[in-house]
Amino acid sequence: MGEGSPPSGVDVTVPNVARMYDYYLGGKDNYAADREAAEKVIAVMPGSQAGARANRAFLVRAVRYLAAEAGITQFLDLGAGLPTQNNVHEVALSVNPDARVVYVDWDPVVCAHSRALVRTPHNVGVVEADLRRPETVLRHETTRALLDFSRPVAVMMVSILHFVDGSDDPQGIVAQYRDATAAGSHLAVSHLTGDLLEKARPEETARAKEIYRRTATPVHLRTHREIHELFKGYELVDPGLAWLTGWRPDEPGPDRSTVVRLKERSGATAEEAPGYGGRIPAYAGVGRKL
Ligand SMILES: C[S@@+](CC[C@H](N)C(=O)[O-])C[C@H]1O[C@@H](n2cnc3c(N)ncnc32)[C@H](O)[C@@H]1O
Repeated sequence: MGEGSPPSGVDVTVPNVARMYDYYLGGKDNYAADREAAEKVIAVMPGSQAGARANRAFLVRAVRYLAAEAGITQFLDLGAGLPTQNNVHEVALSVNPDARVVYVDWDPVVCAHSRALVRTPHNVGVVEADLRRPETVLRHETTRALLDFSRPVAVMMVSILHFVDGSDDPQGIVAQYRDATAAGSHLAVSHLTGDLLEKARPEETARAKEIYRRTATPVHLRTHREIHELFKGYELVDPGLAWLTGWRPDEPGPDRSTVVRLKERSGATAEEAPGYGGRIPAYAGVGRKL
């Protein structure tokens, strides 16, 4: 197993990625070390808070699409994070009161917060586990009790795979979840990218990565092609692998024009997306298992 081990209990002196993300989102579940690290990232990457909000907005749009349009009733949310507004179960249950959701996170504090929030235990479960060990997640009694793997399941890997080191074989991890699910299951991914960012702002990018190296979860930026490869065995639904804000935006607008269509051209690069300037450096996509 590569870098990174689960945070043990609450160490308020070490910045924690779940709590930094909570800070970006304007939450209260963070400590001085988290705020200090997050502010350092914001100083070099002023779009970090907007990026976190845009990521949550993608999560909501993806769950709504999956529940309302793709007919998905079961969700496995890997690297679920601290509960905030519009959590997966809230969105899914608002579409279908029979929906089932399993939240997985390796951070005991995140799991405690999630358990406290869940008032519908027959619909929602929380599993404390390392998502890099799919067999542990998939065999967990809570997962087994709530999800029926003979029927389609949506595997949510939203803003999480950039915390998985290449030596841990992210593609292999995604494939293990894929192989455990039935045809018609879905995969939703958002992932930070270095496309353009590393070229346009190399020093700032290096400094932000350095700050994350002090947490349990260093950041690994990946290219459009690398993120697209994570969808092996899935057919990307329209509009393919897009800029985060360009994936089925609620409001039709300029973001539509930034969509990078990769269904046909897996070699496309971010340069092909018009109007990159200042854009949130992340891609998002949803695939349907063939
Ligand atoms: C940036 S948050 C993303 C939260 C949520 N998915 C979202 O997009 O809003 C990343 C979460 O992944 C968790 N995490 C990081 N590495 C993990 C691992 N190997 N196994 C399980 N959870 C992990 C962290 O504890 C954190 O809560």
